[in-house]
Amino acid sequence: MNDWWQREGLNYEAGKLCFEGQSVQENVQFYDQPAFLYSRARIQSNINRLETSLEGLSYKVFYALKANRFLPLLTFLRDNSSLGVDVCSPGEIFHALSAGFSPQDISYTATALSPSDINILEGINGLRINADSLSAIKHIGKRRFARNIGLRLNLSASLGYNEKLSYSGKKASKFGIYLDNLEAAIALCKQYDLSIRRLHIHSGCGYLNASLNTFHGIIEKMSSICGQFSELQEINFGGGLGIPFEEKDKPLNLSNWSTSLHRYFPKERGIQVQIEPGSYLVQDAGLLVLQVVEVEVKSETCFVYLNGGFNLAPEPVFYNLVCNQYFTILSVILYLVLNLMARCSNKLLSVISMKHTIFGLKETCRY
Ligand SMILES: Cc1ncc(COP(=O)(O)O)c(C=O)c1O
Repeated sequence: MNDWWQREGLNYEAGKLCFEGQSVQENVQFYDQPAFLYSRARIQSNINRLETSLEGLSYKVFYALKANRFLPLLTFLRDNSSLGVDVCSPGEIFHALSAGFSPQDISYTATALSPSDINILEGINGLRINADSLSAIKHIGKRRFARNIGLRLNLSASLGYNEKLSYSGKKASKFGIYLDNLEAAIALCKQYDLSIRRLHIHSGCGYLNASLNTFHGIIEKMSSICGQFSELQEINFGGGLGIPFEEKDKPLNLSNWSTSLHRYFPKERGIQVQIEPGSYLVQDAGLLVLQVVEVEVKSETCFVYLNGGFNLAPEPVFYNLVCNQYFTILSVILYLVLNLMARCSNKLLSVISMKHTIFGLKETCRY
């Protein structure tokens, strides 16, 4: 088995899998299984690395809380960082407020505004709202619950770990206002006396170094589009920064990633740079620990049956992602540890599907 993923804080010590210096197996033995473990140190170092690359800019980072909505994780961020949060639904707004974030620290970007969404948005002052369609501009304008808004654009630039995670590109997507509708969007804002203070773009999730040229191209294009907006104060480049899932994936080179931000949006330009990463901050800071309930050979393949599966970590199934498996030592009980895939906390299904709790072990068995 290849241990490419080992790093300080997640490694084998004397044959035991350790997470932040503590044996995973000893850590979970007093809890019911499955168990989620999180590392504050890893989240903090992910934030620090990112913020170092933004030093010198006027910037603000919003944590995309869909990546993990665990309340103690949110209160940790509130107390230990200057991060705001990115949300995409009224439920997420309430969750962020309950974690102690103020409306001014909440960036709201949603695809479609339902009548009840609008009623809720109307009751909360100070949110940073980004409209991503002409209909959203009309709703906001008619009900007059925000005077200053952002526009989420779609440049048809494909960015993401794979096609499923690319939110724009050749195939039409529901996300953002396409450039052929930009004039109409500006006219609507004028009609409803809305001031466009922010441009926003989020083109996909999980992008790594191979996509950086596309990312730089997006920044350059957005920089030229900014010229049309005299009241612009902020530009949000979304999230999507990826982490390695396989040995072939190299960590995102942040100094390369941030070069165009420094080039096109220096402090002197007077436009605040914003980003809203989720996975990059938390995805490699959590482990899901599952118990092995049976091991059985079928058709010359050794299968390990677990007490949890895609009901707890659905993202790899939805998005064709690799799900890394690490074994603790073999003892009376075996534990399997999966690196925690984001976006699982609010999507628990009630039924455990045995089909997805089985992992072929031909290549990954450690004992
Ligand atoms: C608008 C928006 N911002 C930020 C994110 C966070 O993406 P990631 O977790 O890949 O950084 C998403 C994810 O889908 C998103 O849709």
